[in-house]
Amino acid sequence: MDSLEKKILSCKDLKEIEEVRIEVFGKKGVLAVEFAKMKDIPNEEKKEFAKNLNIQKANLQKAYEVKKEELYLKHLEESLKAEAVDVSSFKYKDEAGALHPVYATMDRIIDYFVSLNFEVSEGPLVEDDFHNFQALNLPEYHPARDMQDTFYLKSGLVLRTHTSPVQIRYMQKNKPPFKMISPGTVFRKDMDLTHTPMFHQVEALVVADEGEVSFANLKSILVDFLKHMFGDVDVRFRPSFFPFTEPSAEVDISCIFCKGEGCRVCSHTGWLEVLGSGMVDPNVFKAVEYEGVSGYAFGIGVERFAMLIHKIGDLRSLFEGDIRLLEQFR
Ligand code: PHE
Repeated sequence: MDSLEKKILSCKDLKEIEEVRIEVFGKKGVLAVEFAKMKDIPNEEKKEFAKNLNIQKANLQKAYEVKKEELYLKHLEESLKAEAVDVSSFKYKDEAGALHPVYATMDRIIDYFVSLNFEVSEGPLVEDDFHNFQALNLPEYHPARDMQDTFYLKSGLVLRTHTSPVQIRYMQKNKPPFKMISPGTVFRKDMDLTHTPMFHQVEALVVADEGEVSFANLKSILVDFLKHMFGDVDVRFRPSFFPFTEPSAEVDISCIFCKGEGCRVCSHTGWLEVLGSGMVDPNVFKAVEYEGVSGYAFGIGVERFAMLIHKIGDLRSLFEGDIRLLEQFR
């Protein structure tokens, strides 16, 4: 037993002491063999024999624990030394960053309209019901509110569902004629391949004396704009419904992936829906006390444009912050 203690105390590393542990304390180890001898020992000597053995076992255990702790600390110190990192050797990569693709796309859209003398106007992200809905011909409880289900705050305020409320605020402060766009962040209760609860819009509003602006103007500006963004595409206007415009049209471009032949992205229709538009509803002008005017408006979803331009399949990936996606836009 003495030699076992020496053996334990002379171990040089954790691996060695583990081998000795099995040899001494294991199921078939030295101690187990000794304890097994009990059955052959005469009854009157059993007590003394067991007592002795238990003392030796306790001594060996003690020696094992002390040595194991010592070897563990030695191992820890060595590995800390080996894995040490020199934090002072960190160097910045002097690579240029880039705008996020959503903001780069938004800037392209804004630049286009600024070049046509549109004024840029921004407004609050948290809106009241009047500016986000009522003034836009969406009375309380109107079912069309479901088209833009939103996040309501307890106070009755809402996270704006579109940037149209900025146009209401703009009209309350300015007199026509004018041309303006309202870019910014908007929120809706949506989440799937092509929707996130937070996204970006650029909406445009043009107002002038009655008869000075027409659907033809709306159509021509949008056709030019879409060709500027997507190259040589066909553009079509489809009758639609928005509470704040009458008549309203959804605007499609010929599919940029299959050139209108029909593919998975365009659901085999040859067309991609890209924005909503229309002539401003007279009720909207009433809400801001405008008289004798006409106007047109349209709304662009920036992520939709970014996805099409960069061929991104899952809108959500734009907001995951994965450097491998973002690096591609440097
Ligand atoms: N405000 C509309 C939306 O967010 C878009 C739009 C703007 C539609 C202007 C028509 C005219 O869905």
